[in-house]
Amino acid sequence: MKENGLITADRIAARVAELGKELSEFYKGKKLNIVILLNGAFIFAADLVRALDPDLDVTIDSIGVSSYRGTKSTGELKIRSELKNIPEDTHILLVDDILDTGLTLEKTVRYFESRNASSVRTCVVLDKEYEDSSKKKYKADWVGFRVPDVFVVGYGLDYNEKGRNLPYIGYMSND
Ligand code: IMP
Ligand code: MG
Repeated sequence: MKENGLITADRIAARVAELGKELSEFYKGKKLNIVILLNGAFIFAADLVRALDPDLDVTIDSIGVSSYRGTKSTGELKIRSELKNIPEDTHILLVDDILDTGLTLEKTVRYFESRNASSVRTCVVLDKEYEDSSKKKYKADWVGFRVPDVFVVGYGLDYNEKGRNLPYIGYMSND
C-alpha cells in the first residue's frame, strides 16, 4: 500500500480556522463541553479548540472509541469513558476524525443524549461520500472536508495505527 497526498496542511489550517469561528458564534453565551473521540481526533481537536474564541465558556474531555480494524469496520463499537455527570445546562460537542458509515457517531451521540446534556452536536474533519451516502446512520453538524470513498490517513487518522502523525491528509492506494 502506498500513501498519496489529498489535503495539504495549509488547507486544513484554513478550514479549521473557519470552523473555529462558526463554532464560537454558535456556542456564544452557552456552556460548551467538547468531547474528543480518541485516538483519531486528537490532532484535529487540538487545533480546533485553539481556533475558538478565547472568551468562550468551554471545558474539554475525551473518550476512547474504537470500531475499526485495518480498513474494514467491525460494526461494533467500544466506548471507554470516565466522564463525570454532565450538568444539565451544558452543551456537548463531540469531535471526531471522520464520518464513514455513521455508526460511531450515532452510538456515541445516543450515549450522551441519555446523560442530560442540553444538546449533543458533532464536528468531524472528514465526511466520506459514496453512492449510498444518504443511507448513513448519522450526519455531522459541522464537516471540515468531504472526501471520496478512499481510505485516508494522517492528521490523526491511522492505517493500522500508523500515519497519525502526518501533518496533511493522504489516501492509501495499491499502486
Ligand atoms: P463509522 O463508524 O463507520 O462512521 O467510522 C468512523 C470511524 O472509523 C472513524 O472514527 C475512524 O476512526 C474510522 N475510519 C473510517 N474511515 C477511515 C479512514 O478512511 N481512515 C482511517 N480511519 C477511518
Ligand atoms: Mg476513530
